[in-house]
Amino acid sequence: MFADKKTLWETNRPETDLTLPARYYYDADIFQREAETIFYPSWHCVCHDTEVPEPGDYVKFDLLTQSVIVVRGDDGQVRAFHNVCQHRGTQLVEDRRGRFKQAITCPYHAWTYAFDGDLKIAPRTNALEGFNAADYGLKEVRAENYGGFWYINMDRNATPIAEEMKGALDAMRPYFPDLDDITFVEEVDYVVDANWKIITDNAIEGYHFKLSGPVHKELAALIDFKGYDLQAHGHWWDFKGPPKKVKTAFGHPITGEKYQTDWFYNIQLWPMTTLYAFPYADVIGTFNSIPLGPEKTLLRFGHYCPKSRPQSALSRAAMDWFNTQLGPEDIWLNLLVQRGVHSFGFDQGRYLIDPERGPNSEHLVHHFHKLVYDALTGGQSFPRKAAAE
Ligand code: FES
Ligand SMILES: [Fe+2]
Repeated sequence: MFADKKTLWETNRPETDLTLPARYYYDADIFQREAETIFYPSWHCVCHDTEVPEPGDYVKFDLLTQSVIVVRGDDGQVRAFHNVCQHRGTQLVEDRRGRFKQAITCPYHAWTYAFDGDLKIAPRTNALEGFNAADYGLKEVRAENYGGFWYINMDRNATPIAEEMKGALDAMRPYFPDLDDITFVEEVDYVVDANWKIITDNAIEGYHFKLSGPVHKELAALIDFKGYDLQAHGHWWDFKGPPKKVKTAFGHPITGEKYQTDWFYNIQLWPMTTLYAFPYADVIGTFNSIPLGPEKTLLRFGHYCPKSRPQSALSRAAMDWFNTQLGPEDIWLNLLVQRGVHSFGFDQGRYLIDPERGPNSEHLVHHFHKLVYDALTGGQSFPRKAAAE
C-alpha cells in the first residue's frame, strides 16, 4: 500500500474534484511508484506487424531501465525477449529496428541465440561443469497482437490485452476501415521535457482546440464540434467528432482522394498508446508517450497507410502537418504546463466538467487521473479526510 501524505488526492466526483496535485508531475518517488505499478505491468505498443515482415526482423522497445526486442522467428511467429545476454547481462541490441542475419549474437563473447530465443552457440563452454545451454535461452516477454500491432507486457501474469481492452477493437474499426490493410510509413521521435501525464492530459480534452494556438484552430475548422463525443470505457477511451464539409485540409485541396474516414477519431489504450485518424487523411497514426524520467518523455509518432492503394498527396500533407505544426504546438503547451506545476503559486485547479459531457468537458482527464491514482494506491482511493482519521 502506498498512501502516504505525499500521494494523497481527494477524489469523489469529477464535477467538484480538484485536479491531481502538482507534485504528481515532477516528484521522483511518485514517478518511481508509477514505474512499478503502471509502466512495467502494462501493455505497450511496440510496432505494427508490417515492421517485422521477415524472419530476423526486430524492433526494440525501451522503457526506463528495461529493454525488450520483438523479433520474427524462422517459423513466422513473432516473439518478445528481454534485450539481455544470459552470460553476463550485456544488452544485445542498440538500434531501434533492424534485421538479424542468421541469429542474435552477443557483441561481448558471441553467445548466439536463435530467433526463438534458444541458445545455439556458447563458445568454449564444452568443458564447463554442469552447463546446459537449454538453461540459458533468452528470457521471453509476453507479446500479443491487437488490431495488427504488437504489444508487450513485462508482467507474465497480465490479463490478455484483448480482454483488458474489451470492446476497443470493435469501437475503432468503423473509423479505421483499412486497419487490416495498413503498412508502416514512418516514425518520428520527439523528446519533450514534460511528465508523461501532461502529454496525455493535453491529448484527451477538446477544451483547448479552439482556444490555444493557431494550428489547433486549423484542426478545429475540420471538425463539427456539436457532435464531438468523449467516452471512457475502463482501460480504454475514445473521442471523436464528425467532419465539417470543407474544400481543403492540411493546406491541401480535397479532390476526391480515398481516405480512412472524414471523422476525427482517437482511441487511447491505457496507459500510453493512442491510435488516431485525422479527417480526410488516408492515414492511421500512433502516438506513444514513453516516460524517460519524471519530467522527460519520448513522444513517438508512427504513421501507417493502406498498402493496397498509393499514398495520396493529402495524406502526405497531413503527416507533415502533424509532425511540423500540430505536434510542436502541443509540445509548446506541454512545456508551459511543466514549468508551471513547479510554481509556489499553483497546486490544484479544476476539471472543466460539463454535465452533458459535451465537447469541452475534461471528464477523460479525470478518468485518466483516477486510473493513475488507483494504480499508485493499490486500487483504492483515499479521500484526504478519511485517510486522516
Ligand atoms: S555477455 Fe554476452 S556473451 Fe558474454
Ligand atoms: Fe492539442
